[in-house]
Amino acid sequence: MHENTKAITDLILKVREKSRQETGNEPAPEMPKPIQWPIQCLVGPGLEGAIACESKVGYVNGAKGWLVYRGYDVFDLCAYSTFEEVSYLLLYGQLPGNSQLKAFKEKMVKYRSIPSTIRLLANFPVATMNTMSALSFGASLMKQELFSQKQDNYRFENGRTISADEDSIPMETRPRGEEHAIYEFNRLDKTKESAEGLYPGADYESSLRLIAGVASVAGAVARLKQGNLPIDSDPNLSHAANLIYMITGKYPTAVQERIMDIALILHADHGINASTFATLVVASTLSDIYFAVGSGIAALNGPLHGGANEQVLHMLKNIGGSDRVDSWYENARAKKEKIMGFGHRVYKAYDPRARILGPLAEYLIKENDDPEVKQLFDVALALEKKVIATLGVEKKIFPNVDFYSGIVYSSLGIPVELFTPIFAVSRVSGWVSRVMEYLEHNRIFRPRAMYSGSFNAEYLPIEKRT
Ligand code: CMC
Repeated sequence: MHENTKAITDLILKVREKSRQETGNEPAPEMPKPIQWPIQCLVGPGLEGAIACESKVGYVNGAKGWLVYRGYDVFDLCAYSTFEEVSYLLLYGQLPGNSQLKAFKEKMVKYRSIPSTIRLLANFPVATMNTMSALSFGASLMKQELFSQKQDNYRFENGRTISADEDSIPMETRPRGEEHAIYEFNRLDKTKESAEGLYPGADYESSLRLIAGVASVAGAVARLKQGNLPIDSDPNLSHAANLIYMITGKYPTAVQERIMDIALILHADHGINASTFATLVVASTLSDIYFAVGSGIAALNGPLHGGANEQVLHMLKNIGGSDRVDSWYENARAKKEKIMGFGHRVYKAYDPRARILGPLAEYLIKENDDPEVKQLFDVALALEKKVIATLGVEKKIFPNVDFYSGIVYSSLGIPVELFTPIFAVSRVSGWVSRVMEYLEHNRIFRPRAMYSGSFNAEYLPIEKRT
């Protein structure tokens, strides 16, 4: 382990102790019992409190500030593990052994290389697109790449092509002696397609392709946005190091790699949050997992969800200096504005992810000494103090994962429009793990609405309507 990364591990362990001390008095969670469906629960608007499914993937305890993946405390995973191990854990339910991890990493190397997808993506005006729509588009193109590969493997054979009267078809190329005219549309044999799993819906292999490949798409989107050509992943680098490398074009230091790795671990899964729910809803229709992940990306984009990390940075820049925090905050409070990066549906304690990301941001700032990022951090600290003293006391509103993540990414040289895509790169592992689990006992999602409209409306012809 690199000397400086040991200091990061120590920092996380210290944070873990502080968290345990501060939330030690909160009631312990009820032990899970065998679940008997249907379940009775109180449901609020936005499905608050609703139980949608049973899961062993992860657990969030809002009172204690716990985040658990497959039984492991996220603090321990951040201190000792890697994103590759954590993705394996989420997907398959246990930490990998040596040979399993080696095989998993080899697959990640293979699936990070998606040249056709990147070529296709580069043909679109990515520079003018929203980064999250480009990312979602890239995820769909990955499906297309898979589709083409299968088609390539499945070459037409003599006798399977249709014959035609060549003279009756306008030809752009001269016949080269083929026995039969060959039509693209005749290449596909529908029965063989489904038998070969050309539309598999969801499977572990596609899950791995998505965990590995969405990072490459994010890297390509970043480069294309800056007017540069995408860079191939480096098979000798970890997922975290590759992500920084593919975005910035620079090899990260051991500290930068470790911090990105921790950020990826922290964002990997988080209960049935909005984007995970969106992913599950799409998967539950037996649509395919690439579409499902695309809808997860779309849901994550919103400023109330993953999009908050970009908004936080704009807000901190907008405030401009720690001496301006008081007046800015009073004004925002008077207008009843939401403060980006604060509050959470589940956490009524300090978000454990922010507990780690705040000190990591501080650590990076000390290392880098970048005055611009230092100023952002100072503003963030002053704002946090103000919010905790007011909203924290009144409504248990604390910083969430998005409050410090942007400062961390800025210190790593990552542009702001990549913050939410990086969140998605990590969350893919949670999305696909939960989809695979849900599909074992799939039931299409179909909640109801309370109808509060009228009945017996009289249909009027258009000229009589007011
Ligand atoms: N700033 C000011 N007031 C807030 C905030 C905030 N950030 N968050 C909640 N409140 C107040 C809200 O005004 C409401 O007050 P009242 O009861 O007086 O009307 C009360 O707290 C409950 O808020 P809510 O919006 O009903 O709570 P929710 O559980 O529906 O929403 C939330 C959770 C995350 C959408 C919300 O806290 C929020 O909008 N935060 C800002 C955006 C943000 O940082 N999002 C990232 C969430 S964490 C990571 C992720 O999911 O991506």
